[in-house]
Amino acid sequence: MTRNDLCWCGSGKKYKKCHEDFDERLSEIKFDIFKGQMRPPKKIINNPHDIEGIRKAGVINDGALDLMETMVKPGIDTATLDKAAYDYITGHGGIPACLNYEGFPKSICTSINNVVCHGIPSKKMILKEGDIVNIDITTILDGYYADASRMYMVGKVSPRAERLVRVTKECMELGIAAIRPWHFLGDIGAACSAHAKANGYSVVTDLGGHGVGKAFHMDPFVPHVGEKDTGMLLVPGMVLTVEPMINEGKSAVTFDTNDGWTVRTKDGKLSAQWEKTVLITETGTEVLSS
Ligand code: MF3
Ligand code: CO
Ligand code: CO
Repeated sequence: MTRNDLCWCGSGKKYKKCHEDFDERLSEIKFDIFKGQMRPPKKIINNPHDIEGIRKAGVINDGALDLMETMVKPGIDTATLDKAAYDYITGHGGIPACLNYEGFPKSICTSINNVVCHGIPSKKMILKEGDIVNIDITTILDGYYADASRMYMVGKVSPRAERLVRVTKECMELGIAAIRPWHFLGDIGAACSAHAKANGYSVVTDLGGHGVGKAFHMDPFVPHVGEKDTGMLLVPGMVLTVEPMINEGKSAVTFDTNDGWTVRTKDGKLSAQWEKTVLITETGTEVLSS
């Protein structure tokens, strides 16, 4: 690639006015393979047009999560929430990414109490006072994906459940706050897990965050445990999710072999999760869906 060629990122700009400095900086970095440090592949670096696309998908996704806020109450079933999210997303020109994803039968995931993630909405699942439920929604708009989830409290919940929900949100926020461009992926998990541990909780390691944007699940896998300065280099233009699953008891989970999806805590205790889609910028981060 010469300096006057169009940049590899697809921005339409000349290389010298786009990623030339970026590549120079990247080429100066010494990767320590013993720390699992590695260079990010070019295909996960988004250009401004891609970022705008993900941002727009994020606006609809956030609207669907807001709608859930108004609907979650004792007595509502999760199929009704699913239908409302489907109508909202499609009504705004989007597609719910979960629907038919690897055979997933619904538009959103609804994960109640001891369900860690990937709970399937159903007429038979009726929310009751004191439940905590994670609603995880991903919207596709013009081919771009935005993925986020929140915890919702059903009526009045126990202080114990409330503390788990709050600390899990803090884990996500601290994980995001640990992201710095030109530093490493392991910083995220180090921050999430330190806070979980300090509060007596455990972190699910069988599932994690992921690159997102031009597809639902892209590189890198984002662990919510880890060590600073390890793993993939984080650079401007990368978009990934931070979505810690934090358990009240032990970190072990089970995968339901009947429905093929539902992930539960092995010990039956509570689990919580919060998720945001995050862009890495020149100076830090920008949240694209939450
Ligand atoms: N939204 C989930 C995530 O955060 C993935 C759900 S996949 C589904 O990565 F098929 F269960 F919907
Ligand atoms: Co999600
Ligand atoms: Co995700």
